[in-house]
Amino acid sequence: MNTNLSFSVASQVETDCLVVVVLDQSEKGQGGKDKPAPVVVASDGAVRDAAKDVIATGEVTGKIFETTLLHRPAGLKAKRLLLLGGGKAKTFSAAELLKLAGAAVRTLKSKSIRSFAFALPETGVAAPDGVRAIVEGGFVGNFDPDYYKSDRKDQKIDAVTIVAKGDQKALEDALQTGRTIGESQNFTRDLVNEPSNRMTPTILGERAKKMAAEVGLNCEVHGADKLKELKMGAFWGVAQGSDEPPALIILRYEPEGAAKDVHLGLVGKGITFDTGGISIKPADGMEKMKYDMAGGATMIGVMRAIALLKPKVRVTAIILATENMPSGKAQKPGDVQIAMSGKSIEIINTDAEGRLVLADGLCYARQLGCTHLVDAATLTGAVVVALGYVNVGVFANDNPMYERFAKANQQAGEQMWRLPLDDDYKENIKSSIADIANAGPRHGGAINAAMFLKEFAEDTPWIHLDIAGTAWMEENKPWIAKGPSGVALRSLVEFVQGWSA
Ligand code: BES
Ligand code: MN
Ligand code: ZN
Repeated sequence: MNTNLSFSVASQVETDCLVVVVLDQSEKGQGGKDKPAPVVVASDGAVRDAAKDVIATGEVTGKIFETTLLHRPAGLKAKRLLLLGGGKAKTFSAAELLKLAGAAVRTLKSKSIRSFAFALPETGVAAPDGVRAIVEGGFVGNFDPDYYKSDRKDQKIDAVTIVAKGDQKALEDALQTGRTIGESQNFTRDLVNEPSNRMTPTILGERAKKMAAEVGLNCEVHGADKLKELKMGAFWGVAQGSDEPPALIILRYEPEGAAKDVHLGLVGKGITFDTGGISIKPADGMEKMKYDMAGGATMIGVMRAIALLKPKVRVTAIILATENMPSGKAQKPGDVQIAMSGKSIEIINTDAEGRLVLADGLCYARQLGCTHLVDAATLTGAVVVALGYVNVGVFANDNPMYERFAKANQQAGEQMWRLPLDDDYKENIKSSIADIANAGPRHGGAINAAMFLKEFAEDTPWIHLDIAGTAWMEENKPWIAKGPSGVALRSLVEFVQGWSA
């Protein structure tokens, strides 16, 4: 998708469709319902005039994602005018704008329109932030997961023009940043969308390598021999049951002028298919377990964005990719594995495999000298019970690290919620024969899993993101298709940039 800026007045832009945001300026009185007070957010009077009649009918309210399409709008050079509801004026922010851009793309492409112009709303959001949000949202909205449909319509928006005012250089930089992040998020979604027969650990490694070569990152992919050499007994315990070789994917970003004392480690769960292993999952819904590599794909996408945005901070990503399969070679409940850190783990449930591969990933990141760790994983069904399909579960063993992450997350506008890690929960993952058990009782399941990981982060500041409920959209939304969401990528990129020297 081409993206460009226009500094013309909106009414003079020649386009198939001009999109303008309509906000509702009404404020609810005490307990009462307010009449909507829709306002077209455009400094150009000709645009407001073109919308005047339809606004006067009362059919436009400004409700979020409401669409009103006018053809041959009077006084405008655009062929159409799309009035796009942006919700309450009071709470309007870049996060809403990103979604509105996605909604504009999805609405217009479904009408076979290929290009449009989006008038940057001059309210509530600084111009560069607004441009960036529109570009990111536009890319997110343009992605559809129906790859393997013979009748794939492949309706795509080819070009978006953002009609803006402000410093040209600042807005062009913002546009470029938005493009990098939007494309990286779609790169991640693309990996996650592939079924497991087309996204084996080997293929994931190849895709990482190809991307790394394109953006100038260092990438190594290792197989089973390296796992054994590194004594990654927890990772290998999962991988040993599969005929597909595992892949230990390492991406390195080492810029000139980076701070000497910071080295970020990004660790991703890359289970390309999770059958549960010998503790096999029920057939119903098992097909979804192709997205169990979303955490790994997220970290690969983050590294792509970082390589292009070039913050001055050292970052290493480690992706633990394998299938979790039942077989004659598979690990069994009751088995004991020795993790890379030396800790012994009793395998209570072979379906709690994510924490096993991450245990060795976190340990390896520390061995490589990472000073701060973040992992992302579709780790537990229990996080879906706790937070639904809305919020990512966030865990942290260090408050300053959490504060930094929360700030980045706030900036990125992704929904996340912190969950606790009190020592009391350690009870739940006690083993009678080994140092630790890989699974505990059902209650507090997402926390139990995080408590397990905490043992392997040891004293290194660490954040854990459980994206099991959020990495896959269960339904189409106006701004994003059903399927892989690419969640957490934007927060993580923001977080990494926050460390730039
Ligand atoms: N990959 C699953 C978690 C999951 C569940 C992701 C639903 C996405 C949607 C993970 O490996 C798993 O199976 N976890 C078990 C852990 C249990 C056996 C302690 C779970 O959550 O049931
Ligand atoms: Mn599992
Ligand atoms: Zn899993």
